[in-house]
Amino acid sequence: MDHAHDIIHPVEDSFARDVLAGLSADVKTLPSRWLYDERGSALFEEITRLDEYYLTRAETSILRERQNDIADFVESGAILIEYGAGAGVKTELVLAGLREPRGYVPIDIADTFLAETSKRIALRFPSLWVRPIERNFLDVFKVPFDESDGGRTGFFPGSTMGNLNASEAKTLLTQMGQHLGDDGRAIIGVDLQKNVGTLLRAYDDSAGVTAAFNLNLLERINAELGGDFRLEQFEHAARWNEIEKAVEMHLVSLCDQRVTICGRTFDFRTSETIHTESSRKYTAESFERLARSGGWRVAEAWQDADRLFGLFGLIRG
Ligand code: AVI
Repeated sequence: MDHAHDIIHPVEDSFARDVLAGLSADVKTLPSRWLYDERGSALFEEITRLDEYYLTRAETSILRERQNDIADFVESGAILIEYGAGAGVKTELVLAGLREPRGYVPIDIADTFLAETSKRIALRFPSLWVRPIERNFLDVFKVPFDESDGGRTGFFPGSTMGNLNASEAKTLLTQMGQHLGDDGRAIIGVDLQKNVGTLLRAYDDSAGVTAAFNLNLLERINAELGGDFRLEQFEHAARWNEIEKAVEMHLVSLCDQRVTICGRTFDFRTSETIHTESSRKYTAESFERLARSGGWRVAEAWQDADRLFGLFGLIRG
């Protein structure tokens, strides 16, 4: 099938641009943010409920167990700014514990999530003002508040920090410093290093939900960019990268094959992979180093009972 006319303005389309560039490189990669179309977001929600994917349960248990400690760390009357708000379930746990929170500012590119979350939070906490910002939190932008609006605390749960490379993480932490001010605080959740078997099972579950989540990216390319990937000729793989301390998701080509996208062809050798995501895992020390690279210092470190996940309270350093 000729798909050459499917995309009219490929250079203006960042999905097309990222896909064409990522698959043209010697080591094929696709940025993980493209995993989250409607179906991808639904599959990710399903992942968070899987037995093997301990991250969400562990972080939620910290938020419950440490609700008072978290409230002590955040000043009373604070504005909570959430980076990549998503469904906002963890936010409710935090807000419910805080003392007289003033405002809630979810930042997310997914406008449906943003509208739903904002509405739900506004209904549950009527004295709170809610001002959503529809942005990719990795873009550079200003928040419309200053010191006179009260203290600000950033909230970045879910180990999404682990999906950023060192330079993106540093840029985000630096930008959070500008948004939150010199007295600002931040609460960041990251997954901790542990035995590799547990880590790999979390990213290659027995029900195949993570595999479907990863392969959905090829379906998205077929649907949105007129690609002709044959999904049965690729397989999901989770691999541990010992140097990066990261679980990587790959799509492995099961044969020599040629794929056409936007009228361009890409050749795959048998066993060649597309690297679609890295999920970096931290220790208290390596997270402290990361925080310092972006102008912060760890003031509080909370963990779940099984020491699987870390929630860190940061102050400007
Ligand atoms: C969103 N992010 C923190 C998840 C993670 O664990 O890296 C995405 C994910 N990928 C596979 N399973 C979940």
